[in-house]
Amino acid sequence: MKTDAGTRIEIFPGALHLPGFLSVAQQYVLGARCRSIGTGSPGWYVPTVRGGGKMSVRMVCLGYHWNPKTYTYETRRQDYDGQPVQALPGDLRDLGVRLAGAAGMQIAPDVCILNYYGVDGKMGLHQDKDERPETLRAGLPIVSVSIGDTAKFVLGGFNRKDSTTTVLLKSGDGFVFGGLSRLRYHGVAGLLPGTAPRGLALNGRFNLTFREGAAN
Ligand code: SIN
Ligand code: MN
Repeated sequence: MKTDAGTRIEIFPGALHLPGFLSVAQQYVLGARCRSIGTGSPGWYVPTVRGGGKMSVRMVCLGYHWNPKTYTYETRRQDYDGQPVQALPGDLRDLGVRLAGAAGMQIAPDVCILNYYGVDGKMGLHQDKDERPETLRAGLPIVSVSIGDTAKFVLGGFNRKDSTTTVLLKSGDGFVFGGLSRLRYHGVAGLLPGTAPRGLALNGRFNLTFREGAAN
């Protein structure tokens, strides 16, 4: 998949917004891909986190499964149905590499977490810190791309109570946070329903995050 590595906006050192990274035509292709991954095997499930609450997103992991009970990566989703994970396809892996490159960073992704947010979907503030310690220390980035309704993405500091900045992530936008920003708290406060390009025929939003450091 070709990508448009155009504008980049630095929100904080190491945290870059890449508006319009994918053209509308590319968004259609990736949107269809997300649907087929989600209806594949193993497909969408709603994770239950350690405290017993259900997340509001549907999730499928590629390459490795992120276990929301143990906060570890594994080859089968042991918190749910024990199914072996779908592989991370080479072209999606390459998309992650290109997104990182557009932000001036490097990554060799071994996992992608695909989330589907319904119109009421959100994700609480959290840090992504379950990847291998050396990849965290090196500041290897979390790389994301969004398809569908615009999301109110919130990016904070290194403590949960730090103030946050809201970035509107539209369909086709990339977002990369690595280096000094790798461990910033972040989340999704909600969507702006009805903002997806019409041709996507999507209520809600897909978000893919690529990461390196799941493999032991
Ligand atoms: C995540 O933090 O894992 C997802 C962020 C997003 O949906 O933009
Ligand atoms: Mn995250």
